Amino acid sequence: MDDLYKTRITELINPGWFKYFDSIGSTNDVAQKWVSEGCPDFSLVIADEQTKGRGRNTRKWFTLPDSSLAFSLILMSNLEITNLPYFTGLGAVGVSRVLQGMTDAKVEIKWPNDVLLNGKKAVGILVEGVWSGNALNGVIIGVGINVTANSVPKTVELLFPATYVESVCGEAINRFDLLFNVISAIMNIRLTCSIDDLIKEWDEQLAFKGENVYILNRDGEQISGILIGISEQGKLTMQLENGEYQHFSSNEIRLRPFS
Ligand code: BTN
Repeated sequence: MDDLYKTRITELINPGWFKYFDSIGSTNDVAQKWVSEGCPDFSLVIADEQTKGRGRNTRKWFTLPDSSLAFSLILMSNLEITNLPYFTGLGAVGVSRVLQGMTDAKVEIKWPNDVLLNGKKAVGILVEGVWSGNALNGVIIGVGINVTANSVPKTVELLFPATYVESVCGEAINRFDLLFNVISAIMNIRLTCSIDDLIKEWDEQLAFKGENVYILNRDGEQISGILIGISEQGKLTMQLENGEYQHFSSNEIRLRPFS
């Protein structure tokens, strides 16, 4: 990352802390430390390579040099605990807005916060709260975006088909322009968008709506139904086979389409 981009990002998130690593274990781990050190709102950790990148549900996330965007944006103010479900949608809606402006590909959000391009996953997001007892000290939005073909892991079995941004743009993408635009979009939503509007946009972008899907809960139980949408409380609503509606929070499930 050259100095021009470092300056642009520093000015954008000011007074947030900003650090770029050529290589680090996980940007979310650095972000957790920064929260405990009392960093300002909108602090940002970014890495060209992650050697211990983490995904949801204790999965690994691979970030090879020169191929992806891997960053953690830290929120430190106005962190009502009841708003936690909405922070999950915030990153995905921000990334999705930017990708929609770059491509004619179908951009969707797979519950809760993966971003799909033409039905394949190009973006994963890991939202983590940092707690002292019952107090929420900070929220970390960890975002991984596959940008070039090299970013898609070839040696591991993927749970969901993957793709990368350049595959749908038809041209080389400057990762740091993309980073700047995504951070701007997330900040803009956070500072100007009501929770109702955020949920509305999250819901409009939702993949597999009206389709038969199944979810796996924490006990590995499979529950099938029709995907209805996102509730006002930021939960996934499904109509089960017995006709009843059930709501699921983002930390209790994994969603899969039936095909
Ligand atoms: C997922 O799809 O399971 C979520 C992947 C989240 C990856 C990002 S990359 C930046 C940040 N640091 C990490 O270790 N993970 C997140």
